[in-house]
Amino acid sequence: MAIEKRTWAEPFKIKVVEAVRIPTPAEREKAILEAGYNTFLLRSDDVYIDLLTDSGTSAMSDRQWAAMMVGDEAYAGSRSFYRLESAVQQWFGYKYVVPAHQGRGAENLLSKALIKAGDIVPGNMYFTTTRLHQELAGGTFVDVIIPEAHDPKSLHPFKGDVDLGKLEEVIKTYGASRIPYISVAATVNLAGGQPISLGNMKAVGELAKRYGIRVILDAARVVENAYFIQKREPGCQERSIASIVKELCSYTDGCTMSAKKDPMVNIGGFLAVNDHAVYEDAANLAVIYEGLHTYGGMAGRDMEALATGIEESLHEDHIRARVGQVLYLGQKLIDAGIPIVQPIGGHGVFLDAKGFLPHVPQEQYPAQALAAALYLDSGIRSMERGIVSAGRNKETGENNKPKLELVRLTIPRRVYTQAHMDVVAESVEAVFSERAGIGGLRMTYEPKYLRFFQARFEPLGA
Ligand code: F0G
Repeated sequence: MAIEKRTWAEPFKIKVVEAVRIPTPAEREKAILEAGYNTFLLRSDDVYIDLLTDSGTSAMSDRQWAAMMVGDEAYAGSRSFYRLESAVQQWFGYKYVVPAHQGRGAENLLSKALIKAGDIVPGNMYFTTTRLHQELAGGTFVDVIIPEAHDPKSLHPFKGDVDLGKLEEVIKTYGASRIPYISVAATVNLAGGQPISLGNMKAVGELAKRYGIRVILDAARVVENAYFIQKREPGCQERSIASIVKELCSYTDGCTMSAKKDPMVNIGGFLAVNDHAVYEDAANLAVIYEGLHTYGGMAGRDMEALATGIEESLHEDHIRARVGQVLYLGQKLIDAGIPIVQPIGGHGVFLDAKGFLPHVPQEQYPAQALAAALYLDSGIRSMERGIVSAGRNKETGENNKPKLELVRLTIPRRVYTQAHMDVVAESVEAVFSERAGIGGLRMTYEPKYLRFFQARFEPLGA
C-alpha cells in the first residue's frame, strides 16, 4: 500500500531506556512449560521482545510524564477530568464523557445501560471483551463484517467495512427495537488490524439513522484507522488525520475507548456519548463499577496523561512512523514468504497459523502452538488470536471455530526500534523453516470467561 517514497524515522529521540535481556534456551523451555504453553502466563522477566499486545505497553512522552505531575487528585470534580472531557470533545466531538479504568470498563457501562435480554448487537467482527459484555447484559452479537475480512489473503483495502446488505437484513429480521446499537470497531483487531473506510462508516451511520438505531464506535485504534483512510481512500490524501478521526466519530452516537492503545497511556479509558439520557445512566452505573463519574477508576494524573496522549496520537509524523514500523516488519515477512494477513494491519503483523502449520488441525490450537514455538526460538512473546480466543457458543457450548487462526505480533507504540523488528523477522523465519517439527496442543485447563487469558496447554504426545 502506498508507503511514501522517502523513508520515515521515529519523530522522537530517546531520553530514558529500560534494559531487556534474552533468556537462555533452557530458561525459555522452563518458562513456557510453567506457563502451560500460554504466552499470557509468562513472566515478563522471561521475555526478550514483548509483542503480546499494544495495550498499555506504549512509551509515554516527556510531555505526558510532565502532565502527570499536575494531576488533580480531588475525589470529585477534578480539574484533570475537565481537561480530559475537553480533549474528548475537541478531538472526537462527543458531548458527554464518563472515564473508566480501561476499555472493558466502558463496555460494561455501555452494555448495562443499553442492552436488555434478547437484544441483538450487530458489529464488524467480534472483539473478546466487547462481545462478552454484550452477552452478559443479555444480548447476542451478530457479525456483519464483509466476507473479505475472514480471508487472510484478500487484499481488500478496507477489510473492516460493514456489509450493508447483511446489516439491513439483520435489522429487518429482528426489528430495530431489538437492536440497541450497532457496534463498529476502527480498526478491527481480530481481522488483523484492518480499517473501515470513511464512506462505509458514513453509510452505516445513515442506515442506522433511517431505522432509529444508535452506532457506537470502538475507538481504541481509530487514529490508525484514519491513517489508512488518508493513504487509501480516494479524496482523503490531503486531509489531516485529526479531521478524518473527527468525521469518523461524527457518524456515530458515542464511543467506548481503551485509552491504552492509540492514546498511549498505560491505563485508562472512557465512554463518550451524545445522548444525555444514556450519559446519565452510564454515569450512574459508573459509581457502582468504576468510581465517581469524574474519575471512573482513573487517577487525576492518568486523566492528564490521557488528555495529552490523545492530542499526540493525532500528530501526522507520529502516526506515519507508528504504522510505518508495523508495515516494515510485515513487508519483511512477506518478502521472506511467510503467510501473514494482508494487507498489513495497523497495530501488528498477524501470522496466518493455518498457512504456517497446515499439518496442525484447528482443534489442536495451531496458533497457540505457533506462539509457543516462537517464544522458544527467541524469547519473543506474541499472542494467539484463533480458536482459543473465540471461546464457546453461549447457547450450545460448542467451540466457536473462527476462519482466522492467527498469531499476533503486536507492536507497542514508541517502544522498539527497527533493529528489534529485524530480530523478530529473523526469528519468525527460523521458526518457519522448522515448521514441520511443530505439533499441536491439548487444553488442560479452561477457565469460564475469556479463556485465552488463563487457559493451560500441553504438547500432544507429551
Ligand atoms: N476493544 C478493542 C478493539 C480492543 O483491542 C481491546 C483490548 C478492548 C476493546 C478492551 O480494552 O483492554 O482496555 O479493557 N485489547 C487488548 C489487546 C487487550 O491486546 O488487543 P481494555
